[in-house]
Amino acid sequence: MPREIITLQVGQCGNQMGTQFWSRLCAEHGISPDGTLEDFATEGGDRKDVFFYQADDEHYIPRALLLDLEPRVIDAITTSPYGNLYNPENIFCSKDGGGAGNIWALGYSQAEKVADDILDMVDREAEGSDSLEAFMLLHSIAGGTGSGMGSFLLEKLNDRFPKKLVQTYSVFPNNEEVSDVVVQPYNSLLSLKRLTSNADCVVVLDNSALSRIIADRLHIQNPSFAQTNQLVSTVMAASTQTLRYPGYMNNDLVSIVASLIPTPKCHYLTTAYTPFTSDSVENAKTIRRTTVFDVMYRLLKPQNRLVSTPALKRNCYISLFNIIQGDTDSTEVHESLLRIRERRLAPFIPWGPASIQVALTRKSPYLRTNHRVSGLMLANHTSIASLFKRTLDQYDRLRKRNAFLDQFRREAMFADNLDEFDESREVVQDMVNEYKACETPDYLQFGQPKAE
Ligand code: GTP
Repeated sequence: MPREIITLQVGQCGNQMGTQFWSRLCAEHGISPDGTLEDFATEGGDRKDVFFYQADDEHYIPRALLLDLEPRVIDAITTSPYGNLYNPENIFCSKDGGGAGNIWALGYSQAEKVADDILDMVDREAEGSDSLEAFMLLHSIAGGTGSGMGSFLLEKLNDRFPKKLVQTYSVFPNNEEVSDVVVQPYNSLLSLKRLTSNADCVVVLDNSALSRIIADRLHIQNPSFAQTNQLVSTVMAASTQTLRYPGYMNNDLVSIVASLIPTPKCHYLTTAYTPFTSDSVENAKTIRRTTVFDVMYRLLKPQNRLVSTPALKRNCYISLFNIIQGDTDSTEVHESLLRIRERRLAPFIPWGPASIQVALTRKSPYLRTNHRVSGLMLANHTSIASLFKRTLDQYDRLRKRNAFLDQFRREAMFADNLDEFDESREVVQDMVNEYKACETPDYLQFGQPKAE
């Protein structure tokens, strides 16, 4: 059974990330940009059908929906060499074409207006799967479309497919840059409510951290989105590696998510990847010694994480899953794991076991790499709450002055009152409180009524 995953890419960021993700998957599976199998792609054992299906003429088509409220990015995709890869029936671009103007409320209300068209596309794609496992949403939380339409879709997916897993790759805005989107904290807060209430697992990609890693590792200051998304697509490909090159464990998304998320609300994951190299950048081609221990050790370093958070002493791991690829064996993996545990390199929650899991997975035979071993960490770490706390603080500052609310008030959800903001704030604050409680020994009593 393939256990298919349907990808919904929404807005500029979602579609640009998606573009690089699909070109990476095509390269890894020996699929050419028009969907036909390359002549050299003769080695079997991979599972293309999780992310692709085959048309009658056997060419591969991504299980992807491309959704936007303005045509610029979608046009760039359809006129690129990968333009014929996607099913044209799965592309939705609003007829008005004006985008959501960076307003969550506009993205949400426009999505409501075209809901029938979009949900028909989702249903058709779901019916085309034998045993659909999950939906994967790619978007940013700071603009209007990815955040507003993305939020609408999360609610609808929950209603229509309550038993399917919903995972998101959510891009958080760069906090070190001055944004020209003044309502970013509003957009982020309203999105975070849906990510908390309607998604099962959120992989957080923080643009501040992505820019920092590119500056440190690839020595590029002010990277383009194409360069940032290269990093994102490497991480996305690695985190789906065990699904596409299955072994005897971790070969479905549910089992990975279940081991990482012991409590439903704390479902935000941090990632780290090493080594980041780039063939296109001269001084980033450095090859260093890569043993499994080196890789695991580096994955624990905050500077390799794709989320920028201050390192506080009380922060700890709730769970940790490493995906190791390359030329190694399970003995080396187990020895490295033992050293990590013995040296207590990863502080864990005080109320449960230190859950470190490792999957050893095959690499694509078609992509050449310079290093022997590479690794991805997927971690549930309490420091992530500081990112949400920052959003709450920014929101509070803006809301105190009731600033920039006019464009929200024009939409039905906010016309009579601003209760939606208050509710969202409460949901996000509860989630932050729960992460904080996870750092204490009596977390298991959290939320229980106090004994008399
Ligand atoms: P509207 O433009 O209002 O219709 O919404 P949108 O969802 O299309 O906006 P967009 O996706 O551009 O969201 C803005 C946020 O996403 C900002 O924080 C950008 O820095 C970030 N962003 C936009 N494109 C990309 C991208 O390709 N990669 C990454 N990593 N971030 C992006």
